Amino acid sequence: MQTSTSIKQSTFAKDILAGLTSTPKSISSKYFYDDEGSRLFMEIMKLPEYYLTKSEFEIFSEHTAEIFDAFTSDASEFDLIELGAGDGTKTAVLIDHFLKRNVDFTYTPIDISKEACDALSTKFKARFPELKIETQNGDYFQILESLKIKSSRRKILLFLGSNIGNFNREQAVDFFKQLRQVMHDNDLLFVGFDLQKDPHVILNAYDDAQGVTAAFNLNLLNRINRELGANFDLSKFSYYAMYRPVECAARSFLISREKQTVSIEALDRSFDFDQWEAIFMEISQKYSPVLIKEIAGESGFAIDITFYDNKNYYCDSLWRPI
Ligand SMILES: C[S@@+](CC[C@H](N)C(=O)[O-])C[C@H]1O[C@@H](n2cnc3c(N)ncnc32)[C@H](O)[C@@H]1O
Repeated sequence: MQTSTSIKQSTFAKDILAGLTSTPKSISSKYFYDDEGSRLFMEIMKLPEYYLTKSEFEIFSEHTAEIFDAFTSDASEFDLIELGAGDGTKTAVLIDHFLKRNVDFTYTPIDISKEACDALSTKFKARFPELKIETQNGDYFQILESLKIKSSRRKILLFLGSNIGNFNREQAVDFFKQLRQVMHDNDLLFVGFDLQKDPHVILNAYDDAQGVTAAFNLNLLNRINRELGANFDLSKFSYYAMYRPVECAARSFLISREKQTVSIEALDRSFDFDQWEAIFMEISQKYSPVLIKEIAGESGFAIDITFYDNKNYYCDSLWRPI
């Protein structure tokens, strides 16, 4: 059990303090995924408006053999390492195919959410009893270093679900450079990018009619209440999403509906909110093929092959270190 001192010094507490004392206030989206957050995200993935999962699932289902060929073109064995694996539904399509092709591989899903790791591990062990799976619970930034020494076999890093969209351009390049440093020259990186498209389609994906995305964002306040002893009143905050076509990014916010003060026991302090003050929650960057090529080059990668869905809403791009 965590003591009050260890809770106060936890990365979660420190990040919440940093976010709520910055201007504008912000809360890191990586904390969305507690038990309820992971459950709500699964609901989001099923929403008619949330095209991202459907598009990536279509790519994996329709190009399975080509993806397999690209992964195994110059090495027949590999370690598959997935950063922020979530429920692994799309990866299961690849794993099923790889096992049928009798390729020698291991699967290491990494996720910051313990609930997501446990659920994925149970599901995959039942569905693929022959799969060599080693789930790792933690922040992929922290686990990256240990990946370097893991094995000398080819590593194929998967970064799916447009997770990269949660970084701005500079952060994305920094992130890929960090990945490059822990990769050997014959390793590969497979990244899912959400593409620029009709702004209405994008906005709807982050502002669904049923309000599941709103509940997903508000749930993070509940998590702070529960884990850090805060007293956020969820009815005094509302969710707001927008898409800026010039910067090609969706942004989401929680808005304080009234002037209020919220205290957080684990931080021994309170935070004032003005009426209509916004807490910045998440950025979801959208990409063009040109931008993807630029980012790959700046980060030390060349693009081997890119797979698109039928609507050109989304792509998965296979990168090789240069
Ligand atoms: C948008 S979901 C995508 C899940 C999955 N990759 C997919 O495509 O469906 C993001 C996942 O990344 C995990 N995650 C977010 N930030 C993380 C971090 N810094 N380290 C490890 N996992 C992280 C979350 O817990 C969540 O399961």
